[in-house]
Amino acid sequence: MDKKVVLITGASSGIGLACAVHLAAQDYEVVGASRRTTPDEAWTSVVMDVDDDASVAEAVGQVVRDHGGIDAVVTCAGWGLAGPVETTPLAEARAQLDTNFFGTVRVVTSALPSLRERKGRIVLMSSIGGVIGLPFQAYYSASKFALEGWAEALAWELKPHGVHVTLVEPGNFHTGFTGARRTVPADADDPYATAAAKAIATMERDEAAGAEPAGVAAVVAKVLTASRPPRRLSVGPAGERVGVIAKRLLPNRLFEAASASSLGV
Ligand SMILES: NC(=O)c1ccc[n+]([C@@H]2O[C@H](COP(=O)([O-])OP(=O)(O)OC[C@H]3O[C@@H](n4cnc5c(N)ncnc54)[C@H](OP(=O)(O)O)[C@@H]3O)[C@@H](O)[C@H]2O)c1
Repeated sequence: MDKKVVLITGASSGIGLACAVHLAAQDYEVVGASRRTTPDEAWTSVVMDVDDDASVAEAVGQVVRDHGGIDAVVTCAGWGLAGPVETTPLAEARAQLDTNFFGTVRVVTSALPSLRERKGRIVLMSSIGGVIGLPFQAYYSASKFALEGWAEALAWELKPHGVHVTLVEPGNFHTGFTGARRTVPADADDPYATAAAKAIATMERDEAAGAEPAGVAAVVAKVLTASRPPRRLSVGPAGERVGVIAKRLLPNRLFEAASASSLGV
């Protein structure tokens, strides 16, 4: 039987790279996409900047031409922006949504004709920050909340076409994400400086102590073969995942009181 073709974005590092390694070992035909090429004998790599319409269209077209079509897309390309809402330049906020949200939109819509033809699967790397608004990462959370709502709507549209959509919501994982994060510099009279520094230090400490991304890759592999893939799946230590459940169940006031210290506020 022909191998299933899976296109993974953000495959040069962290969770995307772990997915490429894991799925290639499971006999998928993996195409790893990112701005940096990722030469590896186990999979093909393609250069793609998800911020750029033409780059995405060209790369997806190349994958369809070279591999005959796409059975699954796993979107991991993304980065984090830290800083107070009030002092974050709008250009930075837009850039954050352009990669994390519109970048995903570009890739998925380009791949959809092939995914519909093959009744394929879409796995979108969201975040616990796509369920819980993270202080001093508001635009990161906004990008992932946007992804969550978009994916729910997309799933309805694709249901009659046999294409499944799953949101994977990781907690803290040890990847290149912390080093790649952009942080808005604080002025001397910044009223948020102390609070922002504390919250950002808390999140960086938690990410550095995070689990290895292979755990996320194993979950993605299960989603790709599940007979009824879930709409959402959180992954990470139970202590982090419980926050997602608590957010959905508790009244906001109670949830906020319970989660403040873990968010560094
Ligand atoms: N690590 C965590 O704790 C965590 C938790 C929750 C969710 N996530 C999500 O998981 C996803 C992967 O993050 P990670 O932790 O694996 O971070 P990472 O190690 O920094 O990897 C990010 C990947 O995204 C790619 N990328 C960034 N901007 C891009 C662009 N404009 N076009 C194409 N590729 C781009 C990077 O490749 P190039 O630089 O080569 O282009 C890299 O391969 C992100 O969506 C992130 O929000 C991570």
